[in-house]
Amino acid sequence: MTDRNTDDMSFDEWDELQRPAPETTGFDAVVETALSRRGFLGVLAFGSGAAAMGLGSAASLLSSTSAEAMTASRFAFKPVDIATDSIVHVPEGYTWDIVASWGDKLFSNAADFDHATGGDAASADRIFGENTDGMEFFTVGERQVITVNHEYVNPKINLPKNDGGMPASLEDVRKLQNLQGVTVMEVAEGDDGWKIVVDSPLNRRITHLTPMTFSGPAAGHDLLKTDADPEGTQSLGTFNNCGAGKTPWGTYLTCEENFNSYFGSTDAGFELPEDFKRYGISVETRYAYEKFDERFDISKNVNEPRRAGYVVEINPADPESTPVKRTALGRIKHENAECALARDGRVIVYMGDDERGEFLYKFVSNGTYQAGGSTDGLLDDGILYVAKFHDDGTGEWLALTEGTTGMSLPEICIFTRMAASRVGATTMDRPEWIAVNPVAVEAYCALTNNKNRGVKPNAGGDETPVGGPNPREKNEYGQIVRWYPENDDHADTKFKWDLFVMAGNPAVHKDAYAGSPNVNAGNMFNSPDGMAFDTRGLLWIQTDGEDSNEGDFAGQGNNQMLIGDPVTGEIARFLTAPIGSEVTGLCWSADLRTAFVGIQHPSAPFPDGEGKLPRSSIIAVRRDDKALIG
Ligand code: FEO
Ligand code: CA
Ligand code: CA
Repeated sequence: MTDRNTDDMSFDEWDELQRPAPETTGFDAVVETALSRRGFLGVLAFGSGAAAMGLGSAASLLSSTSAEAMTASRFAFKPVDIATDSIVHVPEGYTWDIVASWGDKLFSNAADFDHATGGDAASADRIFGENTDGMEFFTVGERQVITVNHEYVNPKINLPKNDGGMPASLEDVRKLQNLQGVTVMEVAEGDDGWKIVVDSPLNRRITHLTPMTFSGPAAGHDLLKTDADPEGTQSLGTFNNCGAGKTPWGTYLTCEENFNSYFGSTDAGFELPEDFKRYGISVETRYAYEKFDERFDISKNVNEPRRAGYVVEINPADPESTPVKRTALGRIKHENAECALARDGRVIVYMGDDERGEFLYKFVSNGTYQAGGSTDGLLDDGILYVAKFHDDGTGEWLALTEGTTGMSLPEICIFTRMAASRVGATTMDRPEWIAVNPVAVEAYCALTNNKNRGVKPNAGGDETPVGGPNPREKNEYGQIVRWYPENDDHADTKFKWDLFVMAGNPAVHKDAYAGSPNVNAGNMFNSPDGMAFDTRGLLWIQTDGEDSNEGDFAGQGNNQMLIGDPVTGEIARFLTAPIGSEVTGLCWSADLRTAFVGIQHPSAPFPDGEGKLPRSSIIAVRRDDKALIG
């Protein structure tokens, strides 16, 4: 995709262009591919019948899934068709409304949104930010609160009067910095749907400039010290907030993903430290912060990027609280942080590192959670593990300790990718969201796609052979891997795994790229990304992929949200998104009658129509009969 205009690229595509992974040989990978596809068939999740069928018989796979859907569906909707237009579609009997769009006021003293300027710069930290992503719903006393990430900015849209959207002043940079981060906002449901409660005492914006603290093993380490923070314990801002999580004690976890993109050098000859290369920190940036805000100039503040890439804990019930960067959860390109409890009450946090050939992690606390008890230290004191998958359907969690890595504990927390490489973890097809089933002891991870699978190593030089849960070379469709912890305990270091679905296109391909048996012409999709379970144990799947509706993606239309049944394998399309957008972020109201869904980076002028700027938005989806939706 190097011939494309960079403005049209997804964030990941742009990031890849800046730092192409090293080339490698092809022959070994081809041999490995052939061997591993057979291994994949042996562990596919649909019983002996599916395994015996093979992936070559697309017609029989299609009919088997359709028959299953007709007899066993738990879905209370008629699936929607694909779409290629610029609005949202939901099933008959459901409606959707806008809750909040970029530029909407959180406080009445913010300026009205102006489509000509992309909004008032001075109001940028008092409005709903750009590019909505992971979110969680909280009940605080009588108040209902959504806490939601604003992952990145689209400078051409946010600074429409600037040449190429590039910041030309510190004021422009401040505007972009304030449009990102996190929103905490009270919402209320009235006759015209769910709306922001403007001026609620709980409303808050957390941005690239908000003071926060470091905790855990890396806090105070030399690698986190700067001239402005000689103790290495205070941070300003949280960056590229992608997925999210919710702790058992009711706080919000926001996850720093492509943090590397904000740090650049005014000195073009600056020699990048080795660890910068693994994390994709380079001289050139998309936002030009470093030209106007010295903190982001790596030639002057070499440790600043080492202070980003963490999971940050925020208390939505206390607008005066200081967010905490939890270094024990590692420094990676964090997607989300999915919490679970071990049988003995220890806290588990599952986390993916979303880059081609990076790894899947879990943190296990040393202390145990007790409702109403102190939670101090639970996310600071524990063991970080990384997943190793075996081709026979088993797997293990490898502890990242001083003994296994040869690194100190703070180094493991700051250079987590290198620690995971040292123990031989399995390189994955871009781990996005992880979701834990509330009604069964199992977890799911969306492996969104990986064009480099079997082609080239990851940024650290680890090979990416075809096999295990990453069974397809040049994987353009993605899959969802599922694991079952031994002894029904998320703290156990052993597990069994299978694939819940391999996305694909059975109308175009007759081989493994057709997808698994539960993919058919009526539900096909590519690039699973966001995921969450509802209270019934149904898996909601959001996509962030190719929406050209052409070639390998013909018949898949715009990005979409589907619902999967872990018991039957059935998958049905519930929602289609406006062209150009991805569907990301999902939570439910406390009464389970509303699903809140994020629509990020629409390319057409959604939701306001022609002549207006496209605005990333949260929508509320409800049933017309007011019945439960989640
Ligand atoms: Fe921000 Fe990996 O998605
Ligand atoms: Ca994502
Ligand atoms: Ca994605």
